[in-house]
Amino acid sequence: MLRDVQDEIIRLKKEKDICILAHSYQNEEILEVADFVGDSYQLSLKAKEAKQGTVLMCGVRFMAETVKMLSPEKTVYLVNPQAGCAMADMMDKEIVSQLKEMYPDYTVVAYINTTADLKTICDVCVTSSSAVKIVNNIENKNILFVPDCNLGAYVQKQCPEKNIKLVNGGCPTHAKITASDVKKAKEQHPGALFLVHPECQPEVVEQADFVGSTSAIMDYAEKSEASEFIIGTENSIYQHLQYKCPEKRFYPLSINMICQNMRITTLADVLDCINGRGGEQILLDPETIKKAVGCIDKMIELG
Ligand code: 13P
Ligand code: SF4
Repeated sequence: MLRDVQDEIIRLKKEKDICILAHSYQNEEILEVADFVGDSYQLSLKAKEAKQGTVLMCGVRFMAETVKMLSPEKTVYLVNPQAGCAMADMMDKEIVSQLKEMYPDYTVVAYINTTADLKTICDVCVTSSSAVKIVNNIENKNILFVPDCNLGAYVQKQCPEKNIKLVNGGCPTHAKITASDVKKAKEQHPGALFLVHPECQPEVVEQADFVGSTSAIMDYAEKSEASEFIIGTENSIYQHLQYKCPEKRFYPLSINMICQNMRITTLADVLDCINGRGGEQILLDPETIKKAVGCIDKMIELG
């Protein structure tokens, strides 16, 4: 049954000239029908490269908006319209405009997990995999980093010569993990390496053997000589790794690391969207695209 749905999706996407992009947090059966799977940075690069006229995003809203900004001539769908990002939704233009007035000589660096509307007033975007490199490449010493204070704190540690102002925002799924969760996981699996996403709190990140984006964590674990890993990001990643490397063992840092927004998209949603019965077409007005795409282009240039 599942296989039949997958076969139908694969048949239809060829027939209708559709490209399916999926973030690495999506479930296994979606990854199997996708043309490309990756982290936020890799997905934004693929958005430009895709040859097809229509792109379906299996991920969250800001990712579909990024595709639309980079390829405005394409028809872009967010496969499940309810898939938002709690972090992107917590910071708006009004808050950042006020901060810009308070810190006029700061370069505004926006994590890509922000709305298209907010990006219109930011200078450059970063992702978890590109943030350190990009901040290092910015000439200005003074950086206003929005909205993830944990990723911002990690960047500050890697770029000590920069003066980074942080704001109070972040990912509820990653930020709720504490040092005592790490202690517990390490006690249960004393021989395991600990790999973590920089959206976690500094007290968690500083205990890691490796810090990286979703794709970087997967890549590191696949290539590593080690055989056991504690995975400190959304629990889909340790599950995918267990499929990919059955000879190794992967443990979740906490059973609570679940992003409902990333889990909401199903294979049935993909079939519905491809059949024109579901999904939401992403429409952005040309003025928003013109203003917001600048900071994504800058990210690609500096990254
Ligand atoms: P990545 O860029 O590492 O894929 O992160 C996206 C995200 O939403 C993590 O919570
Ligand atoms: Fe947003 Fe956090 Fe979900 Fe990533 S895990 S999509 S940052 S809410």
